[in-house]
Amino acid sequence: MKNIIVLVSGGGTNLQRIIDSIDHGEIPNAKISLVVADRECYGLTRAENHKIPNLLIKRGKDFCENLEKHLPEKVDLIVLAGFLSIITQDFVQKYEGKIINIHPSLLPKFGGKGMWGMHVHHAVIEAKETESGATVHYVTAGIDEGEIILQGKVPVSETDTPESLAEKIHQVEYEIFPKAIKRVLQVSE
Ligand code: GRF
Repeated sequence: MKNIIVLVSGGGTNLQRIIDSIDHGEIPNAKISLVVADRECYGLTRAENHKIPNLLIKRGKDFCENLEKHLPEKVDLIVLAGFLSIITQDFVQKYEGKIINIHPSLLPKFGGKGMWGMHVHHAVIEAKETESGATVHYVTAGIDEGEIILQGKVPVSETDTPESLAEKIHQVEYEIFPKAIKRVLQVSE
């Protein structure tokens, strides 16, 4: 059984999708052993609703140090699912190859500092891009720079708003995230 830890900062619809994928056997032989939030958010409630151990560790410079203290001995994968704090270099080194993130653009486009949430979709529309999407990638010390695991594309039309684009991209995230997790864990039935 693979142990997955999920980190969240927001509504946690991707967390919900991962929970459901595990329940439906799309990600076999895996369980979420802990959900951690860096602020009060609905993601924590989702974990609670599914009786998944969860905790709030206040964001700040000690976040990763505190997180480490709560991690189980066996960590197979740490999934950043709409998580807004920056992971320290020390932590990244310690769990190298075991941390993945989902980003709402086709990286390397529209990634890096300041490119999060609606900022990304505003920038994509302003740049008159004809397509955007989502990327699941490994987390390294550089923001949004780690190796790409999976991407999903959506067309951007002239009538799209940042909000409508965000909605389309969420749908593609729900498709690629479980697949990427399964691939990284190399689990089979
Ligand atoms: C997603 O769009 C993800 O790409 C970004 O944050 C958003 C999280 O949404 N990193 P949710 O909390 O999973 O609904």
